[in-house]
Amino acid sequence: MPALSLHVSDSIATITFDMPEASLNTFSRAVQEEFVALFDRLERDDSIAGAVLISGKADNFIAGADIEEFLTWSTPQQAEQASRTGHAMLERLERLRVPVVAAIHGSCLGGGVEAALACAYRIATDHPRTVLALPEVQLGLFPGAGGTQRLPRTIGLQAALDMILTGKNIRARKAMQIGLVHELVHPAILHRIAVQRAREIADRVRARNPRARRRDAKALLLDDNPVGRALVFRQAREQVLKKTRGNYPAPLAALEAVAAGFQDRDHGYRVEARLFGEMAMTAESRELIGIFFASTALKKDSGVGEELVSPRAVHKLGILGAGFMGAGIATVAVQRGTIVRLKDADLARVGKGLASIREVLRAGVTRRRITRQQMDDQLLLAGGTVDYSGFGNVDLVIEAVFEDLHVKHKVLREVEAVLPPHAIFASNTSTIPITRIAEASERPERVVGMHFFSPVHKMPLLEVIVTRETAPEVTATVVAYGKQLGKTVIVVQDAPGFYVNRILAPYLNEAGRLIDGGAAIDAVDRAMLDFGFPVGPITLLDEVGLDIAGKSGAIFVEAFGDRLAPSSTLRRVVESGRLGRKGRQGFYLYDGKGKRGGVDASVYGFTPSGANRVEMDATEMQERCVLSMANEAVRCLEEGIVRSARDGDIGAVFGIGFPPFRGGPFRFLDAYGAARAVDRLEELNSRFSGRFVPADLLLHLARKGRAVSRRPNGWSVTQRTPA
Ligand code: NAI
Repeated sequence: MPALSLHVSDSIATITFDMPEASLNTFSRAVQEEFVALFDRLERDDSIAGAVLISGKADNFIAGADIEEFLTWSTPQQAEQASRTGHAMLERLERLRVPVVAAIHGSCLGGGVEAALACAYRIATDHPRTVLALPEVQLGLFPGAGGTQRLPRTIGLQAALDMILTGKNIRARKAMQIGLVHELVHPAILHRIAVQRAREIADRVRARNPRARRRDAKALLLDDNPVGRALVFRQAREQVLKKTRGNYPAPLAALEAVAAGFQDRDHGYRVEARLFGEMAMTAESRELIGIFFASTALKKDSGVGEELVSPRAVHKLGILGAGFMGAGIATVAVQRGTIVRLKDADLARVGKGLASIREVLRAGVTRRRITRQQMDDQLLLAGGTVDYSGFGNVDLVIEAVFEDLHVKHKVLREVEAVLPPHAIFASNTSTIPITRIAEASERPERVVGMHFFSPVHKMPLLEVIVTRETAPEVTATVVAYGKQLGKTVIVVQDAPGFYVNRILAPYLNEAGRLIDGGAAIDAVDRAMLDFGFPVGPITLLDEVGLDIAGKSGAIFVEAFGDRLAPSSTLRRVVESGRLGRKGRQGFYLYDGKGKRGGVDASVYGFTPSGANRVEMDATEMQERCVLSMANEAVRCLEEGIVRSARDGDIGAVFGIGFPPFRGGPFRFLDAYGAARAVDRLEELNSRFSGRFVPADLLLHLARKGRAVSRRPNGWSVTQRTPA
């Protein structure tokens, strides 16, 4: 079945792009061939004077290249050739005898933008679903179908670099402002206006690809003058290096390709293709593409394997505890259209919770993500209470009360007395085993963990925790609902710390031990930022709250003994009563508004090594922290806490910010080498006895020379027994 269809009416052809059996349009090789054949026809057929390119999909114009095909390239030459093929196709589109008007509704990404740039005119719908972006950098690549050449010429150098280097979404109105599209229309008249414009251009009453917007004088001056451009490139390069710490090669390659285009047109395209080929082979790009596929696969994962159970719909949600997390969960729930009943102990707290929902929604209005009307509609979905009124018909209750087993048991018993029989009780606890919480339940098969991360509206991960008793239908329901809330969901087995916090513990502990051993606080953070984490571990401790870190530290020691014992510095800092950022006193100094300053040198008074700091090798610091984490992740796989290395990698990247270009702890171990990791762990264990004993599974895989990240599922929810 072809993806393109042609319909000619009154000398204007409408090309409808609608890939069969796919939700999105992509430029697969087969589609590119169809385009070329279609261009032949447009050239030959004299009865056609102009054309409109439109999508047959509801909310997608073109999603870009077919990323699966990227995996078939094994040499830079193959990827370079793919880029050249794209160049040739879009060059033909640009030079066609008949003008082609792009009629854009819905997402227009990557190759979609590049194709639109080669059209004679671009119209977009003024609709929230219409967004344009060049997200290639997020896959360790950059636009390779002429995007680095046509975009700067169309919207100016600075705006083009902003899109290419960040991959950010540009909404329709902004696209119009920056000159990316020529015109905005209501979706209902998109096709009609596009046909009209094609005819006007064919009749030469309208120019081909007119300058969409007059760029301001300053920007023009910079673009047109080599000295000005050099300045823009230098600043862009500095910004990239500051942000990526040199860990991502693609943005730098993109800058080089854009710059080459200013020297000479053909040279620009050649450099783009060559560098695209090189980038496609980088380890960074392979890992980022791996993450993309893993998270796509998780979107289709029911969480219960092959088991044939259907999730129940969650129409109404009850939330216990209107604090930080409860209000955060309520916010994302109303954003996705769920009716929410928010309960706390007194009205003041309920009011505070509701106010914080409003605050997040209002920020959406300010940023024009939603209209005021939408905000009001969403707010109407949330109601507050201090008793259990309104809980008689909820489908799901999420508990986010204090982290205290007695309080959790109390609210569980109370709410079960009023819940309908089908309702599910989910706990957002970060440390208490769900099995312990379920002990107070009359129906433990309907108890499950839903561990959200803070801030809930920003963090993409949801860890669903199942006990041996949790019914598969319950798991399927909370997984489906988690996805409805826009989260990437991993299902893990109940055990202290579950998965994400369990692997975070040895990492944070080791960071603390580096300070015990004399490393400077900021040197530890810097080493881990250089490794690619978004925040350093010591800053993270301050952010999470030192009281919370102390409590969870105690739970890990109880469960796993000295192997997961906190550093003596952390223990003593916690004992001193410092709370971290929320108390404006932690490892760092804070101003009255909570803005972080420099290191609080008085913390060194709590370290066994005293005020004198020693220079420690950054690689050694990174290895100690990261190998502890990765080794613990392997233990979790071995124990069946995570279902697969894939889930473990996604949990670490989306829950902790493990550097995505390294693919996650399991992929990292494969790149590092399992045998080398074992050697290094054993060497470290000889110096720091007990903390670096390699996991059995790691030893086994190292001996067999097998990849850690390819380890098949160790555990299936269906069996509900660890492998
Ligand atoms: P919080 O202290 O901000 O909120 C707890 C709320 O529960 C308070 O408003 C309190 O009044 C209310 N509450 C206490 N007893 C209650 C009862 N009997 N009925 C109704 N409401 C009651 O705490 P936060 O940070 O929101 O944590 C809540 C839960 O979420 C804890 O289990 C915590 O471990 C977990 N969690 C926290 C994360 C965080 O980053 N803060 C991350 C993930 C999970």
